[in-house]
Amino acid sequence: MCGIVGYIGNNDSKDILLRGLEKLEYRGYDSAGIAVRDEHKVQVFKEKGRIADLRGIVDFDIFALSGIGHTRWATHGVPSAANAHPHQSASGRFTLVHNGVIENYEILKREYLQGVPFNSDTDTEVIVQLIGLFANDGLTTDEAFRKTLKLLKGSYALALLDEQDNETIYVAKNKSPLLVGLGDTFNVVASDAMAMLQVTDQYVELMDKEIVIVRKGEVIIQNLDGETIARDPYTAELDASDIEKGTYPHYMLKEIDEQPLVMRKIIQSYQDEQGALTIDQEIIQAMNNADRIYIIAAGTSYHAGLVGKQFIEKMTKIPVEVHISSEFGYNMPLLSEKPLFIFISQSGETADSRAVLVNIKEMGYKAITMTNVPGSTLSREADYTLLLHAGPEIAVASTKAYTAQLAVLAILAAVTAKNRGIELRLDLSRELGIIANAMEVLCDEKEEFETIARGFLSVTRNAFFIGRGLDFYVGLEGALKLKEISYIQAEGFAGGELKHGTIALIEEGTPVIALATQESVNLNLRSNVQEVAARGANTCIISMKGLEVEGDTFVIPAVHELLTPLVSVIPLQLISYYAALHRDCDVDKPRNLAKSVTVE
Ligand code: F6R
Repeated sequence: MCGIVGYIGNNDSKDILLRGLEKLEYRGYDSAGIAVRDEHKVQVFKEKGRIADLRGIVDFDIFALSGIGHTRWATHGVPSAANAHPHQSASGRFTLVHNGVIENYEILKREYLQGVPFNSDTDTEVIVQLIGLFANDGLTTDEAFRKTLKLLKGSYALALLDEQDNETIYVAKNKSPLLVGLGDTFNVVASDAMAMLQVTDQYVELMDKEIVIVRKGEVIIQNLDGETIARDPYTAELDASDIEKGTYPHYMLKEIDEQPLVMRKIIQSYQDEQGALTIDQEIIQAMNNADRIYIIAAGTSYHAGLVGKQFIEKMTKIPVEVHISSEFGYNMPLLSEKPLFIFISQSGETADSRAVLVNIKEMGYKAITMTNVPGSTLSREADYTLLLHAGPEIAVASTKAYTAQLAVLAILAAVTAKNRGIELRLDLSRELGIIANAMEVLCDEKEEFETIARGFLSVTRNAFFIGRGLDFYVGLEGALKLKEISYIQAEGFAGGELKHGTIALIEEGTPVIALATQESVNLNLRSNVQEVAARGANTCIISMKGLEVEGDTFVIPAVHELLTPLVSVIPLQLISYYAALHRDCDVDKPRNLAKSVTVE
């Protein structure tokens, strides 16, 4: 979390930095700041709140050819102007922005910085104070920066200004994402290419423990020992329109609507010239060599993993375990003899998942990363990558990445099954095409879902989602969507489990949204609905064509029973969206959250 930007060149930097930060707000949005250098000095502007609040306090009369900026998701220290970045050394000579967490900041503070006045409660300030201290001792900026970096334990993406050198931005990275963007008369720094797409599509990827000297006419990458590293730039394949809302009021709604298109893109991307679904042979080999697959993920991606387990087990007959990444490290199950790990991560940056990846790689196991972001940390560090092809997902609540994850998991399962000589009674390309059409139908029914949200969720404090089998997993995702953007306390439960405790929570008017898309458990699920209705629940049943009964609230088009989660989640996404909207919540940027969770 947190996003950083930097600019040095021939143009005024303020607006470039602010526009860059606006594109990075998905990474954190509780406070923000920029530091810009005019002819004489570095000036810092920072504010609690959004970039829009920051814009209100920036002095636009300054002409500054270089600067750095930051949008924050608080880890150490409450969201406030004082804790917002940039931070400065005691003398004011050095100014720094940081994304990441310095684990040993208290030790460093005690050991090196006794008596130095601090202006914030952040771990970041320790870094800039150390640089100031070492420079005061006579080291050059470069030496002071390196000496400081060698002391840091934890993750960082850093950009540093030295008031005595208006030609340079010093940059460093370890475990947190950072790119340098190249222009003819300028160079830029950004956590994500999206931020600086306004000025360039040429980027150089940085590796952990690298330092970069960024000047307007040159970019020098070095390791911590000062050895220069050559690296070619790449072209960021992002379309500027992908990262704009267009006529949509919110990114979330746009991204929900993009799902049919994403399905078609996935089918195309995973088809060979004959139209058959295909996956890199090495990945299929790795699947075939495994005696058990371990899916590791967090949040929505974990929910996709739960469905993915069903796809893989049912199609390939390889056993699968699904684990929450933040738990796996401390509570590792007994691994099988030949495990294969699949990391599911939209961003490819989730620190909890990365910690597991690092761990299992050290143990000598192979890993696949399934991600939406080519070149992301998890993608680089795994043996193989499967891309989601969903296009940038900017709303904090994940929607199109979830359905893309399900589609790619289904393709992985189907291609592996075929390779194992297992005959499947489904033509997946065709079924995914049917799913894209069904998604389109649902996206055209927005008014229905708005009405359901108004009727069921406008004045409630809590809500339950129930289902059996695959519907249970989709219910978990529906509950997460609703709670994270509308702040209604929502939980997903297995229908049959209610009577073992949860049903005690049902009272007059409690909203219960039930999913009924699985034939084998349809009748049981409907009994569960009766049980809660008899205790006063306000029930909303979303069933599938062919399984509906009179009185169901909404019937989704029929799709292959194994693949229903790809479609049944859409009503839940839209209901959550409208529930949040009716409650005046900030749909795209819910409180306390950030899109890319780069702290453990
Ligand atoms: C919820 C949501 C999160 C993410 C989770 C993992 O809508 O988006 O729960 O799914 O933070 O993120 P990734 O998939 O980037 O690893």
